[in-house]
Amino acid sequence: MRKFYVFAFIVTSVLFACQHDPLWAPLDIELTRAIAGVSRTGSPGYFILPDARDYSQIPQVPVNPLTDAKVELGKMLFYETAFGVEAKHTSGMATFSCSSCHVPEAGFRPHRIQGIADGAYGFGTKGEGRNKRLEYAEQELDAQGTRPLSVLNVAYVTNSMWNGSFGPEGVNVGTEDVWGVTIAGSGVNFEGYGSLEGQNIEGLKVHRLLINPELVEFYGYKPYFDAAFPDVPEAERYTRTTASFAISAYLRTLLCTEAPFQRWLKGEDDAMTEEQKRGALLFFGKAGCYRCHNEPNLGSMTFHALGVGDLYEIGGLNTSVDDVRNLGRGGFTTKPEDMFRFRVPQLYNLGDGGPYFHGSSKNTMREVVEYFNNGIPENSRVPSAQISPFFHPLDLSLSEQSDLEEFLLEGLRDPNLQRYVPDHVLSGFCFPNNDPQSRRDIGCE
Ligand code: HEC
Ligand code: HEC
Repeated sequence: MRKFYVFAFIVTSVLFACQHDPLWAPLDIELTRAIAGVSRTGSPGYFILPDARDYSQIPQVPVNPLTDAKVELGKMLFYETAFGVEAKHTSGMATFSCSSCHVPEAGFRPHRIQGIADGAYGFGTKGEGRNKRLEYAEQELDAQGTRPLSVLNVAYVTNSMWNGSFGPEGVNVGTEDVWGVTIAGSGVNFEGYGSLEGQNIEGLKVHRLLINPELVEFYGYKPYFDAAFPDVPEAERYTRTTASFAISAYLRTLLCTEAPFQRWLKGEDDAMTEEQKRGALLFFGKAGCYRCHNEPNLGSMTFHALGVGDLYEIGGLNTSVDDVRNLGRGGFTTKPEDMFRFRVPQLYNLGDGGPYFHGSSKNTMREVVEYFNNGIPENSRVPSAQISPFFHPLDLSLSEQSDLEEFLLEGLRDPNLQRYVPDHVLSGFCFPNNDPQSRRDIGCE
């Protein structure tokens, strides 16, 4: 008899747990409600990222439908150092790639205050050990006046860059008069490609990566371009445009589907720790983060001024107080109301390493959380009238700040990004970088 009661107790416990009974999982219930409340569809499922192979669910543009062949080619081109032949000095030839600044081990960010491709050497363990070469003058470096954005979950970005300058649609409808005028390369928007497809054509040029029939043939990429672009006439098949389309297709598949928060959303109740769940509850509730970070990548296509510091202030190279990038959206549109406003970035895999914000002004997530909690702008050049009304003191306790930090660092961290990194590139060269110091750091020799 007694045995039966024990058995019945276990069975009902399991049933209750599965149904999220308030007695068993109050935090899960509360969090589910909070997320549903801020979701644009009214369902927490809105925040579930599609599987990387489920092309029909991944945001893409009609000119560049996703295919296996494009993704496979893009997955190599993004890391291929052999195309870096437009280096400013011979010492830099074929030593860098897109991933010099978008390092997979660092959440596809550089793990230093600034990304430098041509003009630097070394890697360290995940990008931090990269340094300027002596023979390059500062203005010869391939280094920009903002910290590289992550390319994770970038399929959700309809207008790319901190200032949203690329992409003809979305928030850029009506801004045609400044395309190609205020921000170099943004004239590509007139071609009508998607944000990534257009931007990456310019990116290949800016980053001194050349794609032409000779190089494509020499390094063995021809069959891959042929498989990816059978309908493109041969005379146009081996160019920066097709390379950009392949890279963009690959980038659209970089989805952080294995992060604890994603697994929790998909029904694995114990994928997140209690601490992470409490942090998520603050994010989607009391701390107000969801007001701006509210699309599936936990960024959004809106622009706000938080008054954070700029890169020139902490030793960024090839930038200055006059850099147009310091003006954010306003540097692109020239509209007074857009000045110092920056796009809301995605938040996955920030736990792979700092620094944070467009000017890399914060080294740790604790500092970021404190910055939001204090609600005091640090950049005196940003007029207070521009600062977002949502940026104000939050009064979070120390333990609440820890919970929030834990959600950001671990709850949103996909631990298996290596699945998106190729085993090798066709040249056989070392990547992300291919200079002697990097080869030693990375273990290529
Ligand atoms: C020298 C470092 C560097 C290299 C090399 C580099 N990037 Fe970037 N990338 C950046 C920086 C910096 C930004 C942000 C610039 C801004 O918004 O002001 C960025 C932004 C991006 C974005 C926009 C992401 C978003 O959310 O808007 C994409 C996409 C991108 N890069 C792809 C690439 C590709 C593809 C390559 C190779 C062709 C490449 N990058 C090479 C530094 C680099
Ligand atoms: C008013 C809109 C807004 C609110 C509210 C907001 N953010 Fe942000 N967040 C942004 C913008 C815009 C940026 C980029 C700012 C910059 O670098 O200039 C950003 C950047 C970040 C970054 C750095 C990302 C990176 O790649 O460097 C983190 C982390 C972050 N936010 C977390 C949070 C958290 C946690 C909260 C809630 C406490 C929050 N945000 C509230 C708009 C907002």
